[in-house]
Amino acid sequence: ATHSLFLLPGDGIGTEIMVEVEKLIAWTNSEQLTDFSTDTGLAGGSAYDRHQVAITDEDVAKAKASDAVIFGAVGGPKWDNVPYEHRPEAALLRLRKEMAVFANLRPAICYPALADASSLKRELVEGLDILIVRELTGGVYFGEPKTITDLENGQKRAIDTQVYETYEIDRIARVAFDLARTRNNKVHSADKKNVMKSGVLWDEVVKGVGKDFSDVELHHILADNAAMQLVRNPKQFDVMVTDNLFGDILSDVAAMLTGSLGMLPSASLGAPDPVTGKRKAFYEPVHGSAPDIAGKGIANPIAMIASVAMALRYSFGMIELATRIENAISAVLSDGLRTGDIAQDNRKTVGTEEMGAAILSK
Ligand code: NAI
Ligand code: MG
Repeated sequence: ATHSLFLLPGDGIGTEIMVEVEKLIAWTNSEQLTDFSTDTGLAGGSAYDRHQVAITDEDVAKAKASDAVIFGAVGGPKWDNVPYEHRPEAALLRLRKEMAVFANLRPAICYPALADASSLKRELVEGLDILIVRELTGGVYFGEPKTITDLENGQKRAIDTQVYETYEIDRIARVAFDLARTRNNKVHSADKKNVMKSGVLWDEVVKGVGKDFSDVELHHILADNAAMQLVRNPKQFDVMVTDNLFGDILSDVAAMLTGSLGMLPSASLGAPDPVTGKRKAFYEPVHGSAPDIAGKGIANPIAMIASVAMALRYSFGMIELATRIENAISAVLSDGLRTGDIAQDNRKTVGTEEMGAAILSK
């Protein structure tokens, strides 16, 4: 095979939606649109049950050696009391760290058929297509010191530290500008340079990188204003690049412009290999393992399938095939097909398998 995919279904609905991925890949392979080899590993609670760890060293090694990891979701009440270092989420954190995927891509696309499910009015979101590029491995979530200490007066002091170095901002900015060139040549960079030194450096470095991309329009926006503008007039944005903390929040705001959690894909990319130019890459739906509906065959597979479309686009340059899949999702929705989470009115709903099959047949 030309390319390798490593599948990590995980727990709960992760395993159910991954079945639809396997069918999709079997089809693209049989049509000779792709030449993928696939291997499947265990992550989260399912790995803990078998190996007493959230992910084994072998599976981490396979993930790092593959051309792309396709991840379902992990977690569930069954594993609430396992030792902290082996909790299901530890699999995700370890993979992100070892694969060094510093660029988190979160698209917010509003499918016309679902525009009425948005938190905003139809005219504000119809045709919306934004890409938030969030720095994922630096900033205040990782900076040291990170402590809670007891004070002499009986109170406590908590410290988190926002740290960014030039190279971290430079590389995420380059990802955003590169992506902008494949879209509409427009980048908004969001920070808080009015009150934060890290914001001052962020802005300086992004503007510097922007000089290498003179064909791309660069706008600066304060992160709080970005939150407001996303809700007021989201279609003014195309690519938005921001740090780990602001990106966490702004991407969740953007997500809710589009309807359901079951619709949202994501990608996390590492640095290009100096020899091959290939980036390590990790694709997953934004949602979790949905224990409340697991095992019922009713999970929405669209976020998972759209994550595979992102893999085709960003890891393999198969833009046409990715677009066909995205168009198939849109067409199925226009036909009125709905899983329970995106059902409107009293329309009949379909299960995971039927939704996956409908997308495949389109
Ligand atoms: P969740 O995303 O699993 O579910 C939230 C709500 O959305 C639930 O009502 C669920 O039924 C619904 N939902 C989510 N995805 C859906 C889909 N594809 N189709 C239909 N409905 C869907 O978040 P929650 O409930 O906070 O967490 C459940 C478990 O998942 C926890 O153990 C949590 O730690 C884990 N989790 C894992 C993530 C990951 O693997 N990346 C991300 C978020 C949570
Ligand atoms: Mg979040």
